[in-house]
Amino acid sequence: MAITRVEPVEFVRRLREEVKTHRAVTHPFLTRFAAGGLARWQLWGYGSQHYYLVGFFTAYLEAIANRTPDAQVRALVRDILEDEYMRRQSFERSHPALYRRFLRAIGFSEGEWDQIPLLPATRTFVTLHLDMTLRSWLEALGAVGPGHEWAIPPMFGHLLQGIERSVPIAPEALEYFRLHIDLDVKHGKLLEQGLVRWAESEEHQDLIRRGAQRSLEARASFWDALGQQLFGD
Ligand SMILES: [Fe+2]
Ligand SMILES: [Fe+2]
Repeated sequence: MAITRVEPVEFVRRLREEVKTHRAVTHPFLTRFAAGGLARWQLWGYGSQHYYLVGFFTAYLEAIANRTPDAQVRALVRDILEDEYMRRQSFERSHPALYRRFLRAIGFSEGEWDQIPLLPATRTFVTLHLDMTLRSWLEALGAVGPGHEWAIPPMFGHLLQGIERSVPIAPEALEYFRLHIDLDVKHGKLLEQGLVRWAESEEHQDLIRRGAQRSLEARASFWDALGQQLFGD
C-alpha cells in the first residue's frame, strides 16, 4: 500500500488553513469587542487579563531557543526575541512596555495592572504553555508559531478596532496592537522556516499540530471567559 506522507510544505499549508478557521481566531468575543462602544470597566477587564499573557510570551521563546538542537531554529527564535525586547532601540519599547502604554491610556495607574485578580482561564493559558515548553520544544514551536504568530494578526485587528470605537485614545497608546498586526506576519514567516525543517516525519508533524491546537484551544477558552465577564455571554 502506498504511504501517503504529507510533505513538510504541504503540512504547513494545511496547518495555516486550520489556524485561520479555528474558533480562537473567529471567536464571537472578538466580533463583539470589535463593534466597540465598550465601557471603561470592560476595557480594563480585557486589558488586565491580556497583559498577563503578553508578559509570558518571551518565556516560551527563551525555552525553545534553549532546548532546540537545531542552531538555525535557535537563530530564528533569537531574532524574534530581539524584536520582543527591543534591545536595539530601548527597553521602553519592549512589547510589555508598549502594552503598559495602552493600560495607562485607559486609566490604569502605575503597577495597578499587577493587582487585578486573574481569571482561571488566564492562568491556565500560561500554565499550559509553560508546561509545553518543558515537555517538547517542537510542540512549543507549534504553540508559538501557528498558535501565536499566525493567529495574532487577524485576532488583534478586532481588538484594535474595538478600542478605537470605544474611547478617544492617542495613537502611541495603540502601538502594541498596530505593531503586532504587521510584525507577527514577519515572525510567522520566520517560524514557518523552522517548521518546514522539522515537519519531515509524521511524529514531528503531530507534535507541531498538537502544540498549535492546544494553544488555540486555550486562547478560545480565554476569549470565552472574557466574553462571560464583559458581555455576560
Ligand atoms: Fe510581541
Ligand atoms: Fe511576534
